[in-house]
Amino acid sequence: MINAEKLKLQFPIFNQKTPSGLDLTYLDNGATCHKPQSVIDAISDFYSKGYSTVGRASYWPSSETTVAFREVRKLVTEFINAPSEDEVVFNFGTTDGINKIANTFLRPRLSAGDEVITTEMEHHANLLPWQQLCIEKGAKLSILPILDTGDLDYESFETLLNDRVKFVALTAVSNALGVKNDLKRICAIARKKNIPVFIDAAQSVSHDEVDVQDIDCDFLVFSGHKIYGPTGVGVLYAKKKWLDAMMPLSYGGGIVKEVQLQESTFVDGVARHEGGTPNIAGVLGLGAAIRFVQSIGMHEIHSYLMDITDYAKTKLNEMDGIKVLGNPVHQAPTLSFVMDGVHPHDLSTFLNEKGICIRAGHHCAQPLMKKLKVPATTRMSLAIYNTKADIDKLIEVLKETQAFLS
Ligand SMILES: Cc1ncc(COP(=O)(O)O)c(C=O)c1O
Repeated sequence: MINAEKLKLQFPIFNQKTPSGLDLTYLDNGATCHKPQSVIDAISDFYSKGYSTVGRASYWPSSETTVAFREVRKLVTEFINAPSEDEVVFNFGTTDGINKIANTFLRPRLSAGDEVITTEMEHHANLLPWQQLCIEKGAKLSILPILDTGDLDYESFETLLNDRVKFVALTAVSNALGVKNDLKRICAIARKKNIPVFIDAAQSVSHDEVDVQDIDCDFLVFSGHKIYGPTGVGVLYAKKKWLDAMMPLSYGGGIVKEVQLQESTFVDGVARHEGGTPNIAGVLGLGAAIRFVQSIGMHEIHSYLMDITDYAKTKLNEMDGIKVLGNPVHQAPTLSFVMDGVHPHDLSTFLNEKGICIRAGHHCAQPLMKKLKVPATTRMSLAIYNTKADIDKLIEVLKETQAFLS
């Protein structure tokens, strides 16, 4: 059983008070998670004790850094159960990965009249790149709707999958409602028609096991900063057949066999797709973050977070004047709610004054807000340092807010 209070001691951010002298209650982990000391140390040690580039130099400390960097690729490969390290590309994060696949994989494969399917619950990062490409190519962006519970309307998926569909992109978990999608079901249906499926795992990677072979997806991306790692680093998993068939994701140093002034040839494998000096500190920090998660155990993390999410949902549902949006079959540790007569932005400002960091807004999911017929929501998203005491504090301050503002 996870002892969150004890784990929290590993996160130095919580050693301090807010500017008004309060304990920090951080409930915006869907946006980004705090960092344990081991991640901070990995980054700081790299800069202070072993700073150098990777891959190209044979001197110390570059050789050691290169080994450490490669170890992280191996670690990530095992973490997502990718068949080989040749399918794990480091990049700058989820948004970067989605844009690169849109531009490098899908652009040359999409023509006027083709179709791309995405869903009604996507973060803008997993909507705009496909949307813009469809506009540019004269292709159609088909939208898989959600049901009243917030779950995807899986039955409509089969109807949308006609012969013109060239690509499917969906999130593992809705960042706004915490709806957990049945990725295996979507991939199995798409597989029958040989349509590649892209998974945005930004909101699932920190609390749900990611197994790309079990899901049987073609692409999957996530950001380091949402799994207790640093910003500016992420992972793109892609099946080898696609990586080898694609032109480089970005052009630059380190990706070539031979360069002439008018043309070049490129190496195979992931090196082909990692042009330029990588975010070395970021990758090493990501490695430390994954080791941190593994030291606790993904299964334990998942059950702990489900327990406190259920607790939070019950407490919110018990309150008059609060409506939790969506009631999916599988809920991730993210809950969106609205309070009668109080704008989410006013609510989050009030909560901030009591030391509670919570998110208000459209959560980069404007089409979803439109569907829910709300301009914005207040969103609570949990991580392993959150406790039932944090939720009790939230509920207490929500009651105070109601009393004060109504
Ligand atoms: C579901 C989802 N996709 C994509 C992103 C974008 O992630 P990043 O800003 O790390 O690229 C987010 C960020 O909140 C997200 O929640």
